[in-house]
Amino acid sequence: MVSSRECFNPSEETFVTKSEPQKDLGAEAVVARGHGRAKLILFGEHAVVYGKPAVAAGLPRGATATVQFSDAAVHQLTLRSALDEDVYARVECGAALDNVGVDAGDGERLCKAFAAILGHFDCPKTLQVDVTIEVPMGVGLGSSAALSVAVARGIGQLLGQPEQVDEAVDASERVFHGNPSGLDQMMAASKSGVYFYARAYDSELEVAPIEAPALTLAVCEAGPAASTAAMVEMVAQRRLRESQLIDSVNQVIGDTARAASAALTDGDWARVGELMDINHGALSSLGVTTRAIDAACHVARGAGALGAKLTGAGGGGCVVALTPGGAEDVLKAWAEHGWSGFEVTIDHRSK
Ligand code: PMV
Repeated sequence: MVSSRECFNPSEETFVTKSEPQKDLGAEAVVARGHGRAKLILFGEHAVVYGKPAVAAGLPRGATATVQFSDAAVHQLTLRSALDEDVYARVECGAALDNVGVDAGDGERLCKAFAAILGHFDCPKTLQVDVTIEVPMGVGLGSSAALSVAVARGIGQLLGQPEQVDEAVDASERVFHGNPSGLDQMMAASKSGVYFYARAYDSELEVAPIEAPALTLAVCEAGPAASTAAMVEMVAQRRLRESQLIDSVNQVIGDTARAASAALTDGDWARVGELMDINHGALSSLGVTTRAIDAACHVARGAGALGAKLTGAGGGGCVVALTPGGAEDVLKAWAEHGWSGFEVTIDHRSK
């Protein structure tokens, strides 16, 4: 019998079940688990792609990947939802990292992302990867980055190559997002809390935790999933047509994120809420809001939220509302309009 024990590495959020060393591999880890966080962008989406600052929160939930060696001829990845236990996709990659089998739907992109991750590791055997996603996908909660981080961390841990994780995640996010700002990726690998994020074109990345009091938010899925890459491209096209105006809008969004960082630190919820409304108006100027998103914002404000905005790439997806006294009234009002949501409290002091 193989004796095993589970070890948790808190800095990497990885688990490894250790067993007797495997003769053929000379390694003792046989099953590894990696975790990545989902996120909420509170301020700054889209403008962050153009080097403006953003404020985002790492959620307690995200994605978990279990990785083990397999006897199959190909690498396999299965993606399940923790919400309904459905299998979303099964993909297979040959040793040459070719797509040898994908389910329909978004399986093609997932397979390319899986291959992009595998390409950064030296794999002595094929791998079986099982991923559970704990948030809805494609609705602005950073599910792809959470998945990328979970899978890369799990593989890095199993193979003893953790130094490859960051580049593997970057490659995977390029498949999902085209030209990612790095914000989702950073939040997926972060600890729980609210962060100020700035990566200007010509300066260093600045990531600073915001020492905000515990922050209670309501989140709802107001529209169908939309492609982040398509929305980012749409903004890029608008900017080509109206470069000065769109740069001004991005400047307003960046300034709003900077002001919000101070207001959050002070726990000045009235100001934070007003800044969320301003940010939402600017996102509307970029063309990424929809009728349903705007309506969900109005409903939230009408039910007592201090501010509301879309979160993520838009074109559908989620709305976030500020509810310091609790999200119950806003969730009830949304439910009356057919939008399901949840309350989340972000507290950097919690695990
Ligand atoms: O919709 P999401 O969760 O993928 O967020 C995208 C955020 C953008 O600013 C629109 C793109 C990016 O790479 O930062």
